[in-house]
Amino acid sequence: MKLLRDVRTSKSNLGISSKSITNLYLNLFIYVQPQLMEGGNYIKEGADKAKSTCLYFTPKENDEVGALVRHLELFKKHNVNLLHIESRPSIRFSDRYEFMVECAPGGNLGSAVEELQRTSQYFSIISRNHKNNRGTVPWFPVRIRELDRFANQILTYGAELDADHPGFTDPVYRSRRKYFADIAYHYKYGEPIPRVDYTKEETETWGKVFSQLVKLYPTHACKEHNHVFPLLIENCGYREDNIPQLQDISDFLKDCTGFTLRPVAGLLSSRDFLAGLAFRVFHSTQYIRHPSLPLYTPEPDVCHELLGHVPLFADPEFAQFSQEIGLASLGAPDDYIEKIATCYWFTVEFGICRQAEGLRAFGAGLLSSFGELTYCLSDKPTLKPFNPEVTALQKYPITEYQPIYFVSESFEDAKEKMIKYAQTIPRKFGVRYNAYTQSIEVLDSKQQVQELLHKASADLHFLSDTLRKISV
Ligand SMILES: [Fe+2]
Repeated sequence: MKLLRDVRTSKSNLGISSKSITNLYLNLFIYVQPQLMEGGNYIKEGADKAKSTCLYFTPKENDEVGALVRHLELFKKHNVNLLHIESRPSIRFSDRYEFMVECAPGGNLGSAVEELQRTSQYFSIISRNHKNNRGTVPWFPVRIRELDRFANQILTYGAELDADHPGFTDPVYRSRRKYFADIAYHYKYGEPIPRVDYTKEETETWGKVFSQLVKLYPTHACKEHNHVFPLLIENCGYREDNIPQLQDISDFLKDCTGFTLRPVAGLLSSRDFLAGLAFRVFHSTQYIRHPSLPLYTPEPDVCHELLGHVPLFADPEFAQFSQEIGLASLGAPDDYIEKIATCYWFTVEFGICRQAEGLRAFGAGLLSSFGELTYCLSDKPTLKPFNPEVTALQKYPITEYQPIYFVSESFEDAKEKMIKYAQTIPRKFGVRYNAYTQSIEVLDSKQQVQELLHKASADLHFLSDTLRKISV
């Protein structure tokens, strides 16, 4: 099945019709559906086959309308096919426009880039194929709707189970997994997450996990988790006999911290998964583990996400800490992605923190596992202080209890350390999330930073003025 990818652009600014753009690039927009592979597994777009390259540029000329047309000709001349174009007001030069052009591999892209660099006042290149394009920044989404692109870049599709998976030989379970994977695969930003009628068996599995874990939370979970949990019972239908719906939880989190959930069809790469956090978006599974082993799951499932992750995304400090991890990952080199993902593993997944009552778990892998939640606070594992420089290099097993945990002093402390660590990542730009436009601002000019400093000083002035008023 072939579909047109959207060609979003401010056409009134460009002076050309959408039809002429569409005609130029017809046949280049292919959106691949999951295919039924031999053996009955639904798989897989796999890692980004397009390996596209995104060019951002502001032409030197002031004639923006003519400039875009000339540049489209430039790509044609170098036989470069375009997948997507967009224009927006430049945040670097007032009264100017910036263009984003996504190029398919092939053609003479190198020559097109050289020519574009000569004719642009601002030029930047980011690429999915950064390993083969030296000097380019690895691609990352800058708008929240661009997270939709991850749906066809999953590494495994939901219905594809390993031979040692408890549901491998269960055709009913496999068809349910395909049902959940299809929901996520077709999900688009802004749509409500489809509500699911969980079966009696699925709800019983949830109930077994739920009833075991809630007994441990008062003594083993961090105070932030215990603070939010009753609110989830009250607002989102957290009950032993009910599996809460992702959309209800997403709405609740949005009110608390701006975090939202989106369903995911399978495993994402670390780079893509972490990028979602930069937008305060958490990719969540919706299926449940196999009923034969209710206290075990070889992969994240709805119990892990809803009982382990969700409560803490409602905490403002934790939400900000998670977003800092996401922001640190944007455009980072591959070796740093691995390091950031390791920090994520030892905090968001398996973190322990020091609180007034003693050590408590805040990692979702712990808060969703009855066995490991007890084990992690026993005297068996080794505990080390969370320090991203050290933590990022720690190796870890994924199929057994962790032999080492890292202890954070507080979410704020962990956040400050992550921000400091992010400064060591070799990037020639800064990134900042704009919550108004739900987009990432790439800061690579003095003017941008000066404007932000000006705004920050106005905010500071407002706050000190307010403090003076309320102190009288
Ligand atoms: Fe997780």
